[in-house]
Amino acid sequence: MNKRRITAEITAIGGYVPEDRLTNEDLEKLVETSDKWITERTGIKERRILRDPLLATSDMAAFAVKKLLEDSRLPAEEVDCLILATSTPDQLLAPAASLVCEKAGLNNAWGFDLNAACSGFLYALSMGASLIESERYKKVIVIGADQMSAIVNYSDRNTCILFGDGAGAVLLEPSTAGIGVIDNLFKTDGKGVACLSVPAGGSLEPASTETLAAGRNYVQQDGRTVFKAAIKGMSDACLEIMERNNLTNQDVDWIIPHQANLRIINAVGNRLNFPLEKVKVNIQRYGNTTAATIPLCLWDFQDDFTAGDNILLTAFGAGFTWGSTYLKWGTLRHHNL
Ligand code: UT7
Repeated sequence: MNKRRITAEITAIGGYVPEDRLTNEDLEKLVETSDKWITERTGIKERRILRDPLLATSDMAAFAVKKLLEDSRLPAEEVDCLILATSTPDQLLAPAASLVCEKAGLNNAWGFDLNAACSGFLYALSMGASLIESERYKKVIVIGADQMSAIVNYSDRNTCILFGDGAGAVLLEPSTAGIGVIDNLFKTDGKGVACLSVPAGGSLEPASTETLAAGRNYVQQDGRTVFKAAIKGMSDACLEIMERNNLTNQDVDWIIPHQANLRIINAVGNRLNFPLEKVKVNIQRYGNTTAATIPLCLWDFQDDFTAGDNILLTAFGAGFTWGSTYLKWGTLRHHNL
């Protein structure tokens, strides 16, 4: 008899967003903009900002992990591995994942950072799933966390209205019931770096008084080009993954797109011919939290999902990086408690 395929099931979720809100009205006082423009062009009403100077990305990630462990009553020592998707590690060196393991008490886990910008959580989820499928690890935590407020220029109205801070975490465990991460489809196109990046502060242009004065340590974006590429990238990736898994849009219960702009989300839903009720949206409350948008949606909407639901996750971000993940929902640990 054939051995059943091992898949990686999501069995617990945790999330964290800072208390402090930055509303469109607050932004009207910082740059020449309006609540009307931001709402109509992006769908965003407010974002959460981590204001405590002693806290950073690893703290938000650790808060999300602690919530996950607490809700699922999982002892921290049982976690084998942690993958942190982030573009805003606390420091350039060392990995923020080490700090998360330390802060969340994951004494038996090894961990590493993964940087794939807004697609980071999906790339990390596929890496975590591979570790589970290898049968060498039984409990892997995958996090998407970003403190975008650390790299956003609050005098640039093209970018400062878009981003917020937050973290979301999932626990992956083996399943033999065909539940969990079923398929992934990823793409990378380095030509996209010219359209969306933080140009300075890395090895090419180390931070200096000149780079700081020129604002090159902050996010720069050619919004219109990214906008078009995001719609095409996410919808094409969803269509391709649906086709190769013999899924029609009737078979898909939910789609969870990266939350960068409500107009992008709606355009992807329309191209795929999904009714908008199937498309999960929380951008109005958090803005674009980069690697955290998809796990924060999973966290916010977890009670809407039922065992066996077919869920498509899709993301697009700097790099360019993009892709889609086909997930079959299972049962969260806390539902069995
Ligand atoms: O997560 C990573 C991927 N990132 C994304 O997916 C973001 C993709 N891009 C976008 O979401 C949109 O391109 C933006 C929201 C960034 C911009 O929206 P847009 O509809 O593409 O606006 P635009 O850049 O074409 O600008 C239209 C006008 C311009 O004025 P003129 O040249 O028509 O006079 C801008 O100067 O709106 C002006 N504008 C603003 N006005 C008020 C730009 N930003 C603002 C602002 N408030 N904050």
